[in-house]
Amino acid sequence: MTSVATPGLDNAPTTHARLLAWVREMAELTTPDQVVWVDGSDEEWERLTTKLVDAGTFTRLEAKPNSFWCASDPSDVARVEDRTYICSVDEADAGPTNNWMDPGEMKSIMTELYRGCMRGRTMYVIPFCMGPVEAENPMFGVELTDSEYVVVSMRVMARIGQYVLDAMGEDRPFVPAMHSLGAPLDEGQQDVPWPCSDTKYIVHFPEERAIWSYGSGYGGNALLGKKCYSLRIASVMARDEGWLAEHMLILKLTSPQQKTYYIAAAFPSACGKTNLAMLEPTIPGWKVETLGDDIAWMRFGEDGRLYALNPEFGLFGVAPGTGWDTNPNAMRTIEKGNSVFTNVALTDDGDIWWEGMTDDAPAHLTDWKGRDWTPESTEPSSHPNSRFCTPIAQCPILAPEYDDPKGVPISAILFGGRRKTTIPLVSEARDWNHGVFMGATLSSETTAAATGAVGVVRRDPFAMLPFIGYNAGDYFRHWVETGKAHDASKLPRIFYVNWFRRDEDGGFLWPGFGENSRVLKWVVERLEGTAAAVETPVGHVPTVDSLDVSGLDLSPEQVEQALAVKPEEWREEIPQITEWFEKFGDKLPSTMWDELEILKSRLG
Ligand code: GDP
Ligand code: PGA
Ligand code: MN
Ligand code: MN
Repeated sequence: MTSVATPGLDNAPTTHARLLAWVREMAELTTPDQVVWVDGSDEEWERLTTKLVDAGTFTRLEAKPNSFWCASDPSDVARVEDRTYICSVDEADAGPTNNWMDPGEMKSIMTELYRGCMRGRTMYVIPFCMGPVEAENPMFGVELTDSEYVVVSMRVMARIGQYVLDAMGEDRPFVPAMHSLGAPLDEGQQDVPWPCSDTKYIVHFPEERAIWSYGSGYGGNALLGKKCYSLRIASVMARDEGWLAEHMLILKLTSPQQKTYYIAAAFPSACGKTNLAMLEPTIPGWKVETLGDDIAWMRFGEDGRLYALNPEFGLFGVAPGTGWDTNPNAMRTIEKGNSVFTNVALTDDGDIWWEGMTDDAPAHLTDWKGRDWTPESTEPSSHPNSRFCTPIAQCPILAPEYDDPKGVPISAILFGGRRKTTIPLVSEARDWNHGVFMGATLSSETTAAATGAVGVVRRDPFAMLPFIGYNAGDYFRHWVETGKAHDASKLPRIFYVNWFRRDEDGGFLWPGFGENSRVLKWVVERLEGTAAAVETPVGHVPTVDSLDVSGLDLSPEQVEQALAVKPEEWREEIPQITEWFEKFGDKLPSTMWDELEILKSRLG
């Protein structure tokens, strides 16, 4: 009965039968007041942002064009890894690093949660495409959501709207991505600025290539094209089809000799991807251009090289620490407006501010919890995982080829994490398998990007721990086999970096940010065969002379400390790596045990 009465359900702007049937099924289950097909137009953006302002969710900024300040519920600020599930048919396919539940059981739990969950709200149908619509096989998805915040954020982060729906035709495959805030409204009930539910589920059905999300409005939990599709579901597609879906930035580096190199880098959430992707080199003659700051899809070209493409369309960057000194290109990107800022502070003149934006804080702010804030306040004004959401096209150093469906050929892959000790500033893998070992054993301190304790060292393989949509042992094997199946001379060379090593006083040993260009220079000189290195038990590390530190206010001891490979620190890693590898049983490729043996014997 409801279906017949639901406005918007029967006059859909598509003839795609599978899509129409699914939208109807979900509308009948969730019983929204109406169904709206998202066209992606400016008028629609205007209408929805105005609605969000009227609802008290958004505050329109005076100081930046077409931009909005938004505060979430204080409980809904990050990805919820303990509520994230890979519901493969066979539990072994989810592996030891993912939460798992039988898909049938999960569906019956979530079906009951979804029943009537959009009452009093609108169901939006968002057709989207990850990567260019012009691709040979465009990667379509459709998100259903009852959140206007999700619709406007998806418009920034992905290619969405009527042109995508048109490209889907009558029968092109798409990933169905179901989302609800889980906060139905009864008749006459006053809404809150940030509806969400205490019950949260972020669920993936890898065989079906389907996503079900419930209870959260936070980016990584609710913008389903991003982590859920482009990493978890796409990693399964990549395993099956022989490509790679990775948590990597993509940058273009031009040397003073005008030679260009494309580099991809995987660091865990809040460990420096967005900053490195937009880096402003401090060394003369070098140039960086941005292609992507979070996700790379990589496929081999006919020439045997690995080509990377950023499937996203926007930047969802960590706000705190982003400033004119550290990341001026991000500041220039957001200056242009058209952005949503979530959980940062609001200035009295209608602008935004966060810790690290400027040296001196404004005298008065409204903090992310809506309270008065002054520099004397004891808590930070902005949540540590507060975010800016901005179109990538506004980035002043965007590489023109960023949306080339073919992608760009990658010369080097960097892995990196946040470690106070042990891991040197940069080291180069001896070969592909050693590089896979570096990725498989990558470790990092946890950050505010996910709920839970911050600063705890954990293994975060390939910076993909929360994002591998299948058994991580199979994922390691996929990387090993990728190396085996291709011409070794054309594979990207692999490096491991750590910008976060500390001295005894707790200060960073390396200045980071724009100065990381010095490390990129060494990487390029290794590719060219011109930079010296010392062979250490963990790989090739720059000699003190081969790393360009000219003009840097660093003592030779500091550089030495940043680059040091200390056997006593590495010996402590061995039992941790052993324990980590044991989790995977037979699934772990034997080459990983071989690499561990090599490391042990080199450490003596
Ligand atoms: P992403 O989440 O991986 O994209 O990481 P971001 O680039 O957004 O950086 C996360 C946090 O780490 C921010 O607060 C940055 O200011 C900080 N950060 C990024 N790069 C560096 C660096 O080279 N050195 C130091 N010390 N901090 C950094
Ligand atoms: P990040 O993206 O990697 O830029 O922090 C969001 C996330 O991974 O949660
Ligand atoms: Mn990320
Ligand atoms: Mn980022």
